[in-house]
Amino acid sequence: MTTSNSLSQDQLKTLVGQAALQYVVPGEIVGVGTGSTVNKFIDALATMKDSIRGAVSSSVASTERLRALGITVFDANEVESLSVYIDGADEIDGKGFMVKGGGAALTREKIVAALARRFVCIADESKLVDVLGQFPLPVEVIPMAAAQIQRRFEAMGGQATLRQKDGLPLVTDNGQHILDVRGLAIRDPLAFESSVNQWPGVITVGVFAHQKASLCLLGTAQGVRTLE
Ligand code: 5RP
Repeated sequence: MTTSNSLSQDQLKTLVGQAALQYVVPGEIVGVGTGSTVNKFIDALATMKDSIRGAVSSSVASTERLRALGITVFDANEVESLSVYIDGADEIDGKGFMVKGGGAALTREKIVAALARRFVCIADESKLVDVLGQFPLPVEVIPMAAAQIQRRFEAMGGQATLRQKDGLPLVTDNGQHILDVRGLAIRDPLAFESSVNQWPGVITVGVFAHQKASLCLLGTAQGVRTLE
């Protein structure tokens, strides 16, 4: 994909990944999300690895990338709070409410985000939406509850499918499955998140409303726009 002044989506991700460095506090541990945009941030973070203590990571994939670049990774249980968590999104609206989990890391992302005082979302402009729900909503579920959760989404007008990998249900870092729900328009993200999170068998719904972004660095054809 190429934007009007010919910055590719990949270049926009690089721009916001680098821009996020300004929110990293020297001498501290930084919370790190998951995905292709965060990979750009991790690569940029490596340039200042000697001035941070390390990172808390939200996935096995990010942990491996951080360690390969010489950045110390702490277990989330070793940390009481973080000044900042930096992560991408599949969708973000003007209020900072997000859909996340395209990379299947939503549960750990919420756990690390909950440790942080500030959530900095990094995304290219294709992720900005008016109403959440165009991107299939990821929901991490306990496998034995998948069919009943699918029926509950159907009853509210959504179509939930089990995410597959190599012809088998995808297994998350937590050993669970992911449902992707199409056909929803999530007009009240706070209420939606609270409600779906109560359903038996739901581990995490990919709406990040109670832990919305504090600010978003949005990569646009005109450069990085900060949405606060
Ligand atoms: C992973 C996520 C990612 O932040 C989201 O999928 C965005 O990824 P990318 O930067 O590759 O577009 O929630 O679970």
